[in-house]
Amino acid sequence: MIEGITILPGLDKAGSKERFEKLTLIAGETVSIVGPTGSGKTALISDIELLAQGDTSTKRRILINGEVPAEEVRYNPALKPIAMITQNTKCFTDLSTEEFLHIHAKARKIVDKKIILDTIELANKFTGEKINKETRVTVLSGGQTRSLLIADAILIGAAPVILLDEIENAGIFKQEVIDIIQSTSKIIIFVTHDPVIALLTKKRIIMENGAVKKVLCQNEFETKAAENLLELDKRVGFIREELRAGNEITKELISVSFA
Ligand SMILES: Nc1ncnc2c1ncn2[C@@H]1O[C@H](COP(=O)(O)OP(=O)(O)OP(=O)(O)O)[C@@H](O)[C@H]1O
Ligand SMILES: [Mg+2]
Repeated sequence: MIEGITILPGLDKAGSKERFEKLTLIAGETVSIVGPTGSGKTALISDIELLAQGDTSTKRRILINGEVPAEEVRYNPALKPIAMITQNTKCFTDLSTEEFLHIHAKARKIVDKKIILDTIELANKFTGEKINKETRVTVLSGGQTRSLLIADAILIGAAPVILLDEIENAGIFKQEVIDIIQSTSKIIIFVTHDPVIALLTKKRIIMENGAVKKVLCQNEFETKAAENLLELDKRVGFIREELRAGNEITKELISVSFA
């Protein structure tokens, strides 16, 4: 059981110590990491993924439930409680989607076959381009791959900690991602440039120059702002889908989407 992940301070890019004592993320908490390009967002979640012990470029240390994780937990992928999905995550195996999930379920000693179809069904909630169980994982698109891996991390991997690095630009439906944000008992960390996702997470870590600059907690105005942005986003999404389908934007369409 993971109740909390603690980040102990490391050094910023100039070698100065980060100015926080410790930062604990607890189960059920959704967190976003924001900050300019190159500010160290990916480096921070990579530290969590690696369960760093002062042995990465940032010199941070990560504790699980307040303790240094056992070596075995760090190095045995089957024991690792953390799943990280990035924009570049790909599957390099010549298997069908069903076989791929089956092997993972077997490795996790899950006997219930239903989980495989459930995982594909969940993945299809995240992506507009449906995945079939016969599709080979090597031919899945980027958006389909990430959708499948997120669903796999949630259901089969049952990872208590999920790290998502800028998946919003990856052809994944935002509403469904937001639903996971709101229903989770996991620790979900989004590295994001998307204001809606940043505003809907409970905690917001702001990065600068390779260091955690500050940590903010969501306030009531932000929740409201996120709702408004989400409405706007739906309208943009509607127009985007029309354009992708090769349609022209007409007066009638505008009046539907902006009604
Ligand atoms: N504390 C640090 N000490 C030394 N190097 C660091 C530190 N933090 C980040 N870096 C390095 O700086 C570079 C940029 O960091 P990173 O890739 O994490 O930025 P980012 O915020 O994810 O940027 P982007 O938005 O472009 O993805 C990387 O090479 C990373 O290893
Ligand atoms: Mg990055």
